[in-house]
Amino acid sequence: MEPVKNTTGSKILATFQTPEREVNIESRLQLETYIASADHHAVEAADRREVLSRLAQPQKTLPAKYFYDARGSELFEEICGLPEYYPTRTEAWILDRYAGEIASATGLCELVELGSGSSTKTRALLDSYCNLGGALRYSPIDVSRTILTDSARQLLRDYPTLRVRGAIATYDHALASLPPTDLPSRMLVFLGSSLGNLTPGECDRLFDQVQGFLDAGEYFLLGVDLHKSTAQLEAAYNDSRGVTAEFNLNVLAHLNRRFGANFDRANFEHWAFYNEGDRQIELHLRCLRGHEVTIGDRSITFTEGETIRTEISRKFDVEAVWQQLDRHDLEPINVWRDPQNWFASILSRRRVR
Ligand code: AVI
Repeated sequence: MEPVKNTTGSKILATFQTPEREVNIESRLQLETYIASADHHAVEAADRREVLSRLAQPQKTLPAKYFYDARGSELFEEICGLPEYYPTRTEAWILDRYAGEIASATGLCELVELGSGSSTKTRALLDSYCNLGGALRYSPIDVSRTILTDSARQLLRDYPTLRVRGAIATYDHALASLPPTDLPSRMLVFLGSSLGNLTPGECDRLFDQVQGFLDAGEYFLLGVDLHKSTAQLEAAYNDSRGVTAEFNLNVLAHLNRRFGANFDRANFEHWAFYNEGDRQIELHLRCLRGHEVTIGDRSITFTEGETIRTEISRKFDVEAVWQQLDRHDLEPINVWRDPQNWFASILSRRRVR
């Protein structure tokens, strides 16, 4: 039998792959789908209406979810490994270094991760909760069934005592519907500074949902990207290999496939800059020449130089996030940062009244 190495190389016991272990994996994996297929047509129609309405505004915008088709998700994984894109490796450093302290602060609990993706950074947490002894439970939440099941199976191979309860769901559905745990507590984990992709209003709404989801005494671990120099921020979203540009332009292919649009990517270019007033990186697609685009039976006019804003990525200040959590009855417990003060992991607890 060949020992199977943890794919991240982090320090867990080697396990042995046998057919029995594979069977065991399925018995430790539970999947729930909260995106009802009966709703499919209604969701498609509502999404199309939203796209058309956003493209009819003076500043055209698109929801960031159109980045993440299969190609976009691959490109995002590539972005996370780019030398200029510091957030992923900085947060991974914080988690590798401080996961033990986080686990000691919360004690035994089930990890529930919003937007789990490849679950790579979560492994540092799983290692620490594994070291606490007791049951090891992980509830990843993601809209992609493929990414969720592939990464769950890999985790189950690497952590022989782990049980995974995955939810194929949007944040809204998951936070409204996930059942309670049989462990003493839960920790909701929201990594990667995905909070920054929400407007202040959406962020407030998410915190309301988190507040409603957690029982008194349960935990929320939030990763946030911090303010820093414009040069460093702009380099992170204008990488020299052009992967972020490709990620941005891929939105057009996604819209063409999904809504029968006829965007020609040759008519657009990637544009990313730091908006210092609003303290956010903005990704735009800038139109290179005037033309018309059709989406089904609707036509949209683009003039030369105008843009579609495809994403905001807000940058935070720990004290402000701390206060915002507090206003949502989430009592801040501790914050861990990297030595350069680029990124922070903030632990809070739903207040016990
Ligand atoms: C997913 N999210 C936190 C990334 C960010 O940095 O805002 C998405 C991204 N967009 C371009 N590069 C990365």
